[in-house]
Amino acid sequence: MKIWAHRGCSQMYPENTLLAFEKAAAIKGLEGIELDIQMTKDGELVVIHDERVDRTTEGIGFVRDFTLSQIKRLHIYADVNPSQEIPTMRETLDLLEPAMRRGLRINIELKNSVYPYEGMEAKIVELIGKYGLQKNIVYSSFSALSLEKLHEIEPEAEIGILNGKVSNCLFMLRGGCGAQALHPHWQGIDLPAGRLAGYTVRAYFSGHLYPEKPTGTKLDLEALEKKGITDVFLNEPERYL
Ligand code: G3P
Ligand code: CA
Repeated sequence: MKIWAHRGCSQMYPENTLLAFEKAAAIKGLEGIELDIQMTKDGELVVIHDERVDRTTEGIGFVRDFTLSQIKRLHIYADVNPSQEIPTMRETLDLLEPAMRRGLRINIELKNSVYPYEGMEAKIVELIGKYGLQKNIVYSSFSALSLEKLHEIEPEAEIGILNGKVSNCLFMLRGGCGAQALHPHWQGIDLPAGRLAGYTVRAYFSGHLYPEKPTGTKLDLEALEKKGITDVFLNEPERYL
């Protein structure tokens, strides 16, 4: 089973922050880090899960209504030192580049199924290209349309299609959105393992309102593997590696 850090080491540290990513990058044997991107009013790619800033910061409103300098004034709710801010994708790559050069992968989830940010696909592909880190990236989205755009811009890009059910992932992949991997919810494995043979199946768990399990418990990864899951996105990868 390959293990990814979901929003960084997000059980113990604030999700989608440089601190959570730094902790994840230090874990030996970790396959990669999953993170979420949204876009500011002035077109900067920032790493934050929700369309709004309310849940994770003291701010109120949609990410798309903040300029980068406004969003940078917000503080992530967490009792950590130093206090964390919403990172840009650029800052995240600056931090993780050395680990990526050693093989760490990043799954960039384009959060554009609620609000389809114009030009997001081209922007992220261009940015990754500037760093020359294309081989380390898996792109994903719940929007098959966005993945199709991304595939057109960067035919070599590795892409995973997100959907609650693995059957929907498979049918969308076959529909030609450019994805090679299936990214279902772990409880959405509604096909027998035989139907998933040969596919990369990266399963995600619930977010932070409903954590994967309370801290201190462990998932039965062997049982998940028998269902055809090849990779898992975990909030607490440090407990498994
Ligand atoms: O990419 C897997 C997973 O992160 C999707 O769900 O809500 O945690 O972004 P969510
Ligand atoms: Ca995500």
